[in-house]
Amino acid sequence: MLIYSNGSWVEAHKAVVPFSDQGFLYGDSLFETIRVNHGHAFRLEKHLERMHSGMETIHMAGIDLLADIPEILETFISNNDIDSALTRIIITRGMSQGKPWRSESDPALYMTSRPISKPEQWPVKVVYLEEKNYPILRFHPAIKSGNYLGNMLAKKDAEDVGAFEPIFVNRDGYVTECAIRNIFFIRDDVLLTPSLELGVLPGVIRDTIMELAEKRQLKVQETLIIKDDVQEMDEAFISSTGVGVLPVTWDGFQSNYRHSQVLREDLHKLFEAGETDVT
Ligand SMILES: Cc1ncc(COP(=O)(O)O)c(C=O)c1O
Repeated sequence: MLIYSNGSWVEAHKAVVPFSDQGFLYGDSLFETIRVNHGHAFRLEKHLERMHSGMETIHMAGIDLLADIPEILETFISNNDIDSALTRIIITRGMSQGKPWRSESDPALYMTSRPISKPEQWPVKVVYLEEKNYPILRFHPAIKSGNYLGNMLAKKDAEDVGAFEPIFVNRDGYVTECAIRNIFFIRDDVLLTPSLELGVLPGVIRDTIMELAEKRQLKVQETLIIKDDVQEMDEAFISSTGVGVLPVTWDGFQSNYRHSQVLREDLHKLFEAGETDVT
């Protein structure tokens, strides 16, 4: 595979990150994972908007660089002959110059990809974990920064107890999101998902699902969901660029996943059609 490394195309086994890169030194970076279906990036503009908002939030200079991404991504896809994949775009604050908290370097851009792999069997098991036990960055608006230590630790802890993904509960007892996915519930034919004010990531697939749900005449509510109420839900699923819609269960929870299955298929069709708009 050819990696895009800040202006150069490099074979994957030769690609390295400069030791003075702020992203490597301080996690001073943002990233996006973008789905490519049959050679087309899914909702690239949404990913670029999120990166734009992240750059503003962390006062990263060089927003103009975002305009170059569509063309570089297209070259990446053709250079690597990609049909379907998860491409990852990373922007760092660049090579550290002077005081690291005032580094005025140009941002550096990297691009790589991995195959799409998702569980074929569902529902997958989830486990509820307390956010306070993990170093997780959470503020509003949420950013997709290079600091995923807490997310990764929680993911491992979840796997260690036989779960596919953790679902976080914040200090106030509200459900927020997963380590690398958003969470949805359905109760009385209403689709519920934690509100962005909790500092959850505005997932590209989260948005897409809300659009698909409205098309199916399902009411949608971005709201506060207290952990104590989850047992009363009719359905639950998680969402991300990688897994799409993935129904979930936990100890003592049972569901027929009636609406979840429909949304899962609707999203799958959108991916397969190589389309990005819900029509
Ligand atoms: C913390 C977190 N929440 C949610 C998501 C889902 O976002 P998207 O739908 O854009 O893949 C991700 C994806 O990486 C994530 O890291």
